[in-house]
Formats: sequence, C-alpha cells, structure tokens
Amino acid sequence: MSENYLTFALAKGRLADNAMKLLKDSGVSCPEMENKNSRKLIFTNEEYKYKFFLAKASDVPVYVERGAADVGFAGKDTLREEHKNICEVLDLGFGKCRIMVAGYDTPANRLKLAHGHNLRIATKYPNIATEYFENKNQSIEIIKLNGSVELAPIVGLSDFIVDIVETGTTLQENGLTILEEIGELSARMVVNTASIKIKNHQITNLIRNLEKTLSEGR
Ligand code: PRP
Repeated sequence: MSENYLTFALAKGRLADNAMKLLKDSGVSCPEMENKNSRKLIFTNEEYKYKFFLAKASDVPVYVERGAADVGFAGKDTLREEHKNICEVLDLGFGKCRIMVAGYDTPANRLKLAHGHNLRIATKYPNIATEYFENKNQSIEIIKLNGSVELAPIVGLSDFIVDIVETGTTLQENGLTILEEIGELSARMVVNTASIKIKNHQITNLIRNLEKTLSEGR
C-alpha cells in the first residue's frame, strides 16, 4: 500500500467501466485510464494522489486483503467465493445478477437435485457450491471449470452447474433451466482492514461521495 496515495483495484471488464464511471461522477477521475489502447497496468492521478489498476476479478480481494490496494471494486460472487479478510463497505447497485443451480429440467433431474447424493457440479465457484449443498446435506463432486460452464451438462461432464445468470440468455440458448436459486449478487466496494483506520478520512469521504452519486441515480 502506497502511503500517500489511495490505491484502487478494479475487476477488469464491464465492472471496471461501471466503477470508473461511478468514481468519475463522484469526483475521482483518472484521465490517463480513459485511453483504451494503452497497455499500461497502473494509472496515476498525481493531482489527487490516486492510483488505479485493473486485475482479474478473482484477484481483486487478494490485492485488497494484502494491502496492495486500499480499495477494491468486485462482484459479490468473487467476494463470496474468495472469503478474504476485507471490509465490504458499499453495494454499488450495478452488475446485478443471481447465482443459480441450473441444468436440464427433467423429472429425474428435479428428484436428483432435491434428494440425490454425489451430484456432479461444474462451476467456477467451488466454495459457493460446496457451502450451498452442505447446507442442504447433500454430497457433491466439484468439477472446477474456468468458463463456458453451461457446456458441462450438455456434453455429460456434470449433472448440474452452479453459475451466475444475468439475462438468462446463455441458459436459454443452450436448453438449460434455472432449477434452484442460491442468491442475489451485485458489485461491491471493499476496503483493506488497515487502510480503513489509517486512511479513514479519505475513505469515509469517498464512501460519502459514492453514496451521494448512487442516490442521485447517476
Ligand atoms: C457469465 C456466466 C454465464 C453468463 C451468464 O459468463 O458464467 O456463462 O455470463 O450471462 P447471461 O445470463 O446474461 O447469459 P461470462 O460471460 O463471464 O464468460 P465465461 O463463461 O467465459 O466465464
């Protein structure tokens, strides 16, 4: 963590674009970062002493927990999955989606999902899936994938998937159905546990400004 700077880690992709817009509307801007062709990894606003970097979504909690970033913007799916010792301070309202159990909607599958054991679950979220089925007292075998999880039941790799659903298009176009809902998700702001004390004034102001922007619906 850089002493004089407030350092932000943003999950790459759509979430980062939304987060940068929210920050800009709240008075925290970084013109250098608006050049989409740049291959730079870290961006600085020298005037206001901010640093920003983009990271793979699942790495954002790691940077924040270890203090390499004071503040992180990441999806609740990542935070639930990674279980890091960080403070979740604000629901940013965008990136809304749900995490679901999905598969082929057949009577046999419904029965299996309700009462079966040794279910083969393909997912990018092994911890979330394990916790969910443990709470239902059902044993599962996790098949960890890194993308295109919907393929797994189609090619016979798994019985079901645990994955995020935003519009539902991917499931629908592949003949799969939501069978159970695990929870609702959205983008969150997280803060390093030491930064929240050491940089309390800056972080409190930031939260206040973000809340104001969010309440104005910008
Ligand atoms: C996510 C998710 C689903 C899809 C859901 O994948 O894992 O596959 O989006 O979106 P929808 O309900 O709007 O169709 P992502 O696009 O992040 O790609 P990935 O499968 O390669 O991880």
